[in-house]
Amino acid sequence: MNAGILGVGKYLPERIVTNVDLEKIMDTSDEWIRTRTGIEERRLAGDDIDTSDMAYHASVAAIEQSGVKPEEIDLILVATVTPDQSFPTVSCMLQERLGATKAAAMDISAACAGFMYGLATAQQFINNKAYKHILIVGVEKLSKITNWEDRNTAVLFGDGAGAVLMGPVSDGKGLLAFELGADGSGGKHLYKDMENGTLVMNGREVFKFAVRQMGDTCIRVLEKAGLDKTDVDYLIPHQANLRIMEAARQRLELPPEKMSHTIRKYGNNSAASIPIALAEELEAGKIKDNDVIVMVGFGGGLTWGGIALRWGV
Ligand code: UT7
Repeated sequence: MNAGILGVGKYLPERIVTNVDLEKIMDTSDEWIRTRTGIEERRLAGDDIDTSDMAYHASVAAIEQSGVKPEEIDLILVATVTPDQSFPTVSCMLQERLGATKAAAMDISAACAGFMYGLATAQQFINNKAYKHILIVGVEKLSKITNWEDRNTAVLFGDGAGAVLMGPVSDGKGLLAFELGADGSGGKHLYKDMENGTLVMNGREVFKFAVRQMGDTCIRVLEKAGLDKTDVDYLIPHQANLRIMEAARQRLELPPEKMSHTIRKYGNNSAASIPIALAEELEAGKIKDNDVIVMVGFGGGLTWGGIALRWGV
């Protein structure tokens, strides 16, 4: 018995903001954004939708797909750096709204790597049989902390949520290996400024870190799983910048069609980007039973995380 994914769901706000829309409110261009990042448009949530609302919609979809009842969920983990409020946590709000009456609940704060931290944490509880069913959500309303006067960051992010319901699957399937890491000395490169409440980033430094870390983490996680890059069927990288994602793909020597690519229409959804991409690939029928999937993310902290898993129950 091993921990695997039983159901997946996503939620994206309806409002689409294109690069051309941004050209009208700041000194930027569609051409710059597309060529430097791969982003063409993003979804932004209105005032009537907060982080917990997006988390709820994605969770309902994941729970439905899994066939698990809300009252059978043992633990809810929500990865976010943009909670509705510092406490109660988004996970507690979800616990009530979903009717997951038996579930313990906590938020995980590991920025864009948060969903990787969530999956690896959930696997420990399931494999040691402490818990059977765990809901893991990656969700961000980054528009709440975006500095719309800073073109270096404002063009990059989008709002959204992705969720998975994890539980026991048959041997050989599910999570095969993980790596989590942090380098607090790089915290100064990506943080929320507590004075004005907005995100600050040294893009170039984060870029260099990400290119190195994404590729290295993929290789190490495969080694831990006893696999080789030739075994990989699908790469789901954190959707931060197409150039960073491409570096990871090339490191694994995968053809372009074997890498998730939602950044074009959603931008960088931070902790939500990997589960949203997973949901999209499943909807598109691109992931098949027994496929080996590598997920990898990095973010503020600095943090990173990678997971190798074999799809199926
Ligand atoms: O989720 C994890 C968090 N973040 C990331 O993964 C981001 C990692 N970093 C990146 O993706 C890239 O560093 C950026 C996309 C943020 C920036 O790309 P870059 O190729 O590193 O550009 P740069 O920061 O070196 O800036 C190049 C030029 C600058 O102009 P000068 O100084 O050369 O005249 C910037 O002022 O591009 C300018 N620039 C822009 N121009 C038009 C920066 N932002 C914009 C913009 N529109 N939005």
